[in-house]
Order: sequence, then structure tokens, then C-alpha cells
Amino acid sequence: MKKNKIAVAVALCMAAVLTACGGTAKTETTKAAGAETTKAAGAETTKAAETTKAGAESSAAGGKLVMVTNAEFPPYEYHDNNDIVGIDADIAKAIADKMGMELEIQDMAFDSLIPAVQSGKADFTAAGMTVNEDRKKNVDFTDTYAQAAQVIIVKDGSEIKAPADLDGKKIGVQTGTTGDIYAGDIKDGNIQRFNKGMEAVMALSQGKVDAVVIDREPAKVFVKENAGLKILDEAFTEEEYAIAVKKGNTELLEKMNAAIKELKDSGELQKIVDKYITAK
Ligand code: ARG
Repeated sequence: MKKNKIAVAVALCMAAVLTACGGTAKTETTKAAGAETTKAAGAETTKAAETTKAGAESSAAGGKLVMVTNAEFPPYEYHDNNDIVGIDADIAKAIADKMGMELEIQDMAFDSLIPAVQSGKADFTAAGMTVNEDRKKNVDFTDTYAQAAQVIIVKDGSEIKAPADLDGKKIGVQTGTTGDIYAGDIKDGNIQRFNKGMEAVMALSQGKVDAVVIDREPAKVFVKENAGLKILDEAFTEEEYAIAVKKGNTELLEKMNAAIKELKDSGELQKIVDKYITAK
């Protein structure tokens, strides 16, 4: 309904413009205008949706939950045309449904996620975020919902065969991730930071780094998409993912934990995982 109204409004505007422009090449212009109208209406709808989003930003209690993520992390969060999809997006949607709230997802740099939650710009972050002691000082974590690991990607035939071989090597990581943090422990390691995990993997393909330290599931996706790379059998670290909320927001934390428990108990969580992580 709303969309139609906007479409009509845009069509009227277009007509006004056409009239103002005079009548030359009328048929063609009209046709083009028709096409434009559809597009413009689409754009308008997006804008309207965005406006609503911005207006609802800080309202955890007002019916809308704002989630921030870094959608460069398949299969947990990635872009599918204009949508952000993935395991975290689906879990967050299921949690919001259980809480009777609407979910809005915003995309940003990984290292901006915790600050966004701290400042109240967002209600929570779900981003394949590993629970660690440092982060716990800045945000509160829900119960964990996934086992994870940092793994090492190398080129086929690389002399790097295990974590211990990383000493003195050039390591690619996504900025601010646990891969970035833990790679700092590598003796004489030369850490190269990238905005996206995929960029680190491309640097590896191009021989600009010797290895990439990144989470296991995205690693599998990236290796599949780039010939000549492999994941080492021995993981670099074992870790767990959880959702993070603003420190002290126990109300939201408890509601989310209750929802996560229900999703685990009902098997719904596993179903979401299975939807995105197929044949191993
Ligand atoms: N698990 C790692 C961490 O918490 C990497 C997460 C990256 N997530 C993302 N959506 N890019 O640091």
C-alpha cells in the first residue's frame, strides 16, 4: 500500500516535470519516465525505511532492536544483494521474534562494533564475535551460541605446516579480530591488517602475506572461492561466539539468554546453522 502511494506520488512528480519540459519526443520520454518511476519509487521506499531505522535507533524497549555487525564474514553475516544474511542475522531475527520486537541490522567496520554498543548507538552486536576477557571489560556477553576457532590459511605447498611455523612470517588478519590479537603473539611475526577478511585472503593469493589467521567457517568459504589455498589441520586457537550488549543492560541480556536457550532446546538454532553450513 505504502509503496503504491509513493509510486503514484513519484509518477505525479514525473508528470509535472514532463509538462514543464515541454512536449518534444514525448512518447519516448514517457516510456523512460515510466521506467524511472518504478526505480525512483523503489529508491524512495528504501529511503523511507532508512528514515524509520534512524529514528528508532536507541529504543531497545520501543519495539525495535538495532543490531550492528560487519557483514564480511560468511556464513555468519554477508551481503546478499541488498540484504544482510547469515547465521547471526537469522539467530538475531529469531531472538527478536521471540522478544516480540522488530530487528534492524546495520553494517559497519568490525572494530566499530563494540564502541557502537558501548555508546548505545546499537542495542547489540552479533558478528561471530569471540568472547574474551578484554572485551568483557567493555560489553556484556550472552551465553555462547557457537564453537569457533582461528585457523591458518596458506598457499598449497607452503612451508608453513603448523602454527609453530608462523614465527617470522607475514600474517594477514582482519583488523581488530581475535586473529589480529593472537597473531600478535607470533614471534617476529609481521602482522598485515585488512578491513575485510577476504582482502587478507586475496593478499595471500597474491603472495603479499605468507598466511592468514581467521575464523574457521569464513576460512572454508574463502578457500573455496580462491584456488590454490588450504586450511592447516591444526587450529591456531579454539574459541566461542556470543552476542554482546551494553555493559549493565541486564534486562536485554536476560531476555536474549532466555531466547537463545529456547532456540537451542527446540533445535531451531541447529536448523539455522545447517541452513548455512552444508556439506563439511
Ligand atoms: N571471531 C573473531 C573475533 O571475534 C572475528 C569475528 C569477525 N566478525 C565479522 N563479522 N567480521 O574477533
